[in-house]
Amino acid sequence: MERMTTGTAPLDEASPRSSGLSAREVEEAGRLGAALVANVGTVIRGKHDVARACVMALLAGGHVILEDFPGVGKTMLAKALAQSVDCRFSRIQFTPDLLPSDVTGVNIFNQKTGEFEFRPGPIFANVVLADEINRASPKTQSALLECMQERQATIDSVTHPIAPPFMVIATQNPIEYEGTFPLPEAQLDRFMIRLSVGYPSPSEEAAMLLDQTSGDPLAELRPVIDAARLLDLVEVTRRVHSAPAIRAYVVALAEASRTDSDLYLGASPRAGIALLRAAQASALLDGRDYVTPQDVKSLATRVLSHRIILSPDGRAHGRSTADVVRRLLESVPVPTG
Ligand SMILES: Nc1ncnc2c1ncn2[C@@H]1O[C@H](COP(=O)(O)OP(=O)(O)O)[C@@H](O)[C@H]1O
Ligand SMILES: [Mg+2]
Repeated sequence: MERMTTGTAPLDEASPRSSGLSAREVEEAGRLGAALVANVGTVIRGKHDVARACVMALLAGGHVILEDFPGVGKTMLAKALAQSVDCRFSRIQFTPDLLPSDVTGVNIFNQKTGEFEFRPGPIFANVVLADEINRASPKTQSALLECMQERQATIDSVTHPIAPPFMVIATQNPIEYEGTFPLPEAQLDRFMIRLSVGYPSPSEEAAMLLDQTSGDPLAELRPVIDAARLLDLVEVTRRVHSAPAIRAYVVALAEASRTDSDLYLGASPRAGIALLRAAQASALLDGRDYVTPQDVKSLATRVLSHRIILSPDGRAHGRSTADVVRRLLESVPVPTG
């Protein structure tokens, strides 16, 4: 039985090099990550934290959903991230008449050869912007979500793998309900992280006005890394060490959410994986090759709150799922290793 304490014990000290990564590899990864965040920051003003979270998901091999009001820069943020990596980018504008095959691709008959050939859809790219995802039919949304989860697309019973690196950045507008299909929690679970962008501060907004009216920051944005280098970074991220006590902490959080009376549906095992992977990337961005309890804590609301569902009790108390996650973080002790 492991000893339990409250607070954030310095578990990390035990095994700083357990990852097997060299100091140079860690330093280089941190530097590239920071360069990516800074690059996105030249376009999206005053949103360092959101840009950092997107880069973190990129390194962790996760998908992102940006959920916020129109005009706060969601589409631009996704484009800036995609353009920061020299890779194949595609944008799918979701509309009510978009078909699953508009996402995945179709088999077409080639008159010359007399055979069907596969014409890949826009999902076959490295970074895919799925813009305004709640506007499409559930059927088309499902096609996208299946590709995200399986990292492959099945067309006419033939499976086509989607080559890595592969990341979907979806956007969704929370105030537009009529004729839209907001994704249910079971589908939101496919996204590693949900972010809202938020309004910039007045001074940042003024700076943004100048940027956007005197030039085109997005057109001037240059890539920082290429797809091959990104794949290396994803590999390095996977090797970031998590002590047994860290994994026990993630499990304890998930378990606590499953028995919480404010919740009808708690965190799935998939949610725990997402949380730990995100924590690995966050550690690396901070120049560490090991996860700390603080990495887990700082990410938990963004990784967990879109996958859990309030109970009638929780709703009656006027809580949000993010409130419940914050409360769990306060009450679940960090095990010591
Ligand atoms: N924080 C910000 N930094 C830079 N530009 C911003 C910011 N917020 C909004 N904008 C600008 O507002 C416009 C609308 O952004 P867009 O990405 O289309 O919004 P959304 O997709 O959220 O509706 C763009 O020209 C974008 O440059
Ligand atoms: Mg948009």
